[in-house]
Amino acid sequence: MILVLDEGTSSTRALLFDGTGQIHGIAQREIENRYPQPGWVEQDASEIWEATFAVAQEMVAKAGGAEVIDGIGITNQRETVVAWDPETGEPLAPAIVWQDRRTADACAALCKAGHEAEVQARTGLLLDPYFSATKMRWLIDNVPKVANCRQLAFGTIDSWLLFKLTGRHVTDASNASRTLLMDLEQVRWDEGLCDLFGILPRFLPEIVPMCGDLGETTLFGASIPVTGSVGDQQAATIGQGCLMPGATKATFGTGLFALASTGQERPSSQHRLLSTLLLDDGKHRLFALEGSVFVAGSLVQWLRDMAGLVNTADETEALARSVSDNGGVTIIPAFTGLGAPHWRPDVTGSVHGLTFGVTRAHLVRAALEAVTMSCRDLAEAFSADGAAWESLRVDGGMIANDWLAQDLADMLGLTVERPSNVESTARGAAMLAAAGAGLFEGIGEAVAAMLPVFVSFEPAGDRKARTGRISQWENVLGRALAP
Ligand code: G3P
Repeated sequence: MILVLDEGTSSTRALLFDGTGQIHGIAQREIENRYPQPGWVEQDASEIWEATFAVAQEMVAKAGGAEVIDGIGITNQRETVVAWDPETGEPLAPAIVWQDRRTADACAALCKAGHEAEVQARTGLLLDPYFSATKMRWLIDNVPKVANCRQLAFGTIDSWLLFKLTGRHVTDASNASRTLLMDLEQVRWDEGLCDLFGILPRFLPEIVPMCGDLGETTLFGASIPVTGSVGDQQAATIGQGCLMPGATKATFGTGLFALASTGQERPSSQHRLLSTLLLDDGKHRLFALEGSVFVAGSLVQWLRDMAGLVNTADETEALARSVSDNGGVTIIPAFTGLGAPHWRPDVTGSVHGLTFGVTRAHLVRAALEAVTMSCRDLAEAFSADGAAWESLRVDGGMIANDWLAQDLADMLGLTVERPSNVESTARGAAMLAAAGAGLFEGIGEAVAAMLPVFVSFEPAGDRKARTGRISQWENVLGRALAP
């Protein structure tokens, strides 16, 4: 048995996998997001740990005890920063979540000073508040407890959980590749970048491979080795079996993240996509080109919790089907700025095209269409970078919606493949942890043994309607992006 801890932006979960990829149990707890100021997003790192520990305990009990668990695999929301005191094990400030925009001005100043090309060349990333380094710097500059802590430990969520489980201050290479501080070729902290962002390397965790012996925990009654750790989007790419160059997946979770493997070749985007580490198992390294869109499932959550347009996320499918088009409505989902390929932290969300004929169903349909169109914008950028998608594997809670899966196939003009079980993120972490625990020879063998079957959605739909949708979207988006 493999125990996966999947700590996402909205909830934390524990899942039990066997070596064929079957899931034997899931426990889940919500994580509270706090918005203390416009553009700020915070979480409580203690709550993250306590909730993760609680769901893990549930699954250990379900498995019949720690003795039957061969390894733990961690997967997590990336870029979110925790600062803690390793002596007390207590966080020193609220965790700053990846969606947080408070360092937009700091990033703009670094861009203006001409640092972006160098940062992109070394890290594969861009100067956007999304990534961790400026969040760490903000904590040093604004939280005296952080600035004055002599043994300060910084880390992303993987690192925080690994510390709480094993006592080690380490981070896996996939998470480290999202900080703006790691040299993507060398897979080590870059001193020049640490200087640029004002982060002392001794505050940072040791970078370790994504599977193997990552430490052990005795918190569950008997010792369990931690044998895998991976950022959630890299995990989903592995869990979808997208290791060969060109294989592409898109995950529709809180946000929408598309990754295309480029194999052993480090990609270099000319169209505002990211280069990221897909796999480092200690022997092999694989890279990926990534498009990160900040809003997908969170838009449906907003429709439900803030706008009150639906009672449950499931209702969106029937509502979208109940109308023949969007009624002229376009939603630009820039709730937390725009990510790839625009990278505009200053843009806010908008609803365009309201008339008296517009109904709740039109608004809901326009929201789902905004997710499809964001994905299409990514597809265009990948294509411009010479990495056109041949087909697309999809996963994440939101893609259980058949209307959305078909809309994607129609608008992308591609076969969209959805696994019979959309838990690709957890599955990828389970594959790594299983390989790391020695249940398989390597990650390739783990993927082959644990991959689910897929359902395909083939492109159909009316060409004229498709062209009309594209021009409506481009027109409204162009206005939102105008200075
Ligand atoms: O980079 C942010 C990403 O890791 C968040 O993932 O699953 O919370 O949408 P998710």
